[in-house]
Amino acid sequence: MKYTLKTGNAAALSTPCLVVPRGSAQTIGDALGIGEQVEMTLDGTKNETGKTAQVFRSGSPSQLLIVGKEHAEPCDEATFRKDMNAAAAAIVGLQVGEATLWLDEFDVAGRDTPWKTRTALLAVSRAAYRFDRHKSKRRGKGKTEAEPPPKVRRVGVLSKDRSAARLAIGHAQALDAGMEFAKTLGNEPPNVCNPAFLAAEAKRVFDSESNVSVQVLEESDMESLGMGAFLSVSQGSTAPAKLVIVRYAGARRGTAPHVLLGKGITFDTGGINLKPTSGIEEMKYDMCGAASVLGAAKAVVDAELPINLVAMVAASENMPSGQATRPSDIVTTMSGRTVEIMNTDAEGRLVLCDSLTYAERFKPKSVVDVATLTGAQVVALGEPASALYANNDDLASELQAAGDAIGDRMWRMPLWDEYQQQLKSSFADMKNIGGRAAGSITAACFLSRFAGAYPWAHLDVAGTAYHAKKGSTGRPVPALFEYLLGACADAVASGPGKRQRTSTS
Ligand code: BES
Ligand code: ZN
Ligand code: MN
Repeated sequence: MKYTLKTGNAAALSTPCLVVPRGSAQTIGDALGIGEQVEMTLDGTKNETGKTAQVFRSGSPSQLLIVGKEHAEPCDEATFRKDMNAAAAAIVGLQVGEATLWLDEFDVAGRDTPWKTRTALLAVSRAAYRFDRHKSKRRGKGKTEAEPPPKVRRVGVLSKDRSAARLAIGHAQALDAGMEFAKTLGNEPPNVCNPAFLAAEAKRVFDSESNVSVQVLEESDMESLGMGAFLSVSQGSTAPAKLVIVRYAGARRGTAPHVLLGKGITFDTGGINLKPTSGIEEMKYDMCGAASVLGAAKAVVDAELPINLVAMVAASENMPSGQATRPSDIVTTMSGRTVEIMNTDAEGRLVLCDSLTYAERFKPKSVVDVATLTGAQVVALGEPASALYANNDDLASELQAAGDAIGDRMWRMPLWDEYQQQLKSSFADMKNIGGRAAGSITAACFLSRFAGAYPWAHLDVAGTAYHAKKGSTGRPVPALFEYLLGACADAVASGPGKRQRTSTS
């Protein structure tokens, strides 16, 4: 999707579809010479949040898309989101190639132009996203597509607040590209998206960028590094594991990088602790953490943020076989500590723990790992929020604030010592599972043991990164991008430079 800034008189705008709030529709309709039609439409349609109505006219704009409920006061954030989602669905349904949102006319309490801009633009991208590359296109006579593909390619924003809107459009454009990348990786089936595919995609997307390098550690490299935990997961698979490392240099050399690390299990059968039939097909999404760090990196690179960033993807397939890891096997991690693998289905933490140890060499400013780590996270928080864990309060509040600002929420959970006790092993330094109680927390506790060398946060996104029916959501790319934008603001606060954050709210 291409986002643009529009200026000038709304009544003379070159657009097939102008989107306005219901409260302004009459005034705008009068200016456009369709006052009567607008009046009739307003009389004949529901004055409700999340509802839309159209009025056609000849010339440009050739239609007015009227959104939401008329309100005297500024509306709240949730109302605006609902209205933008409805407008986006209508834009897709109307099969227009372009639409312009007159954002100045929408008044949202406590939210500024940048916030409205990205919320509105991303709503259109979300509504127009399709993953149909594996559908054969049979265009024979009499074969009509049940649902025609969306036509909208461009979305304009009409705002007087030009410089703020322009900066926000640029950031939204980068974020959209990152989210699209993440969603598509997540949606690819596991016979396409295996560890080698993730590595190849990282190279395809980043290799042409002059300030980005992509390195791939192979199983032989991991052996030399002593990554016994990581390697134990791919043991039963014919697809070799990969540790993909994307390095972006947007700041001066020597500036400590932010590290993002993603769980990239391209299919999680559970291994010898085989998962039951019901829902096992969802485990193609078990690489959504990896997809989100690659997506966030894409957004950062496109937005040319003045930071250094390392995106790491811990890619592996978890399969049962005669070679597979057995429950009760003991492996040695790169940190030297030993782990008794009591359940081969708790594999995410095994690829992540060695990657966390590896991340120490970057002397990072912060490390954030993202993983569809536990079913328990879905039980605890469901779809609305990712679970956030951190060994550093500042990092936790920055991430949480970023998620709140961009509508990609997370909720902080504890890493108390009582939970750490659940990982005690009789035969090794620790077990890889902590029993039934507090499953998302004990998984995070396991990771925390390998993340002592830097400020670290962990996002368990099992419930937020995908929906079984609708596919990959692209979360938490928005929160990660917003967090890294904030990091730019912090980095330049002490010296000269432009404040990068998209929004003051
Ligand atoms: N990939 C799963 C977690 C998961 C479950 C993500 C459902 C999305 C939806 C993970 O590898 C896993 O199997 N976790 C186990 C851990 C248990 C064995 C301690 C789980 O959650 O059951
Ligand atoms: Zn898994
Ligand atoms: Mn598993």
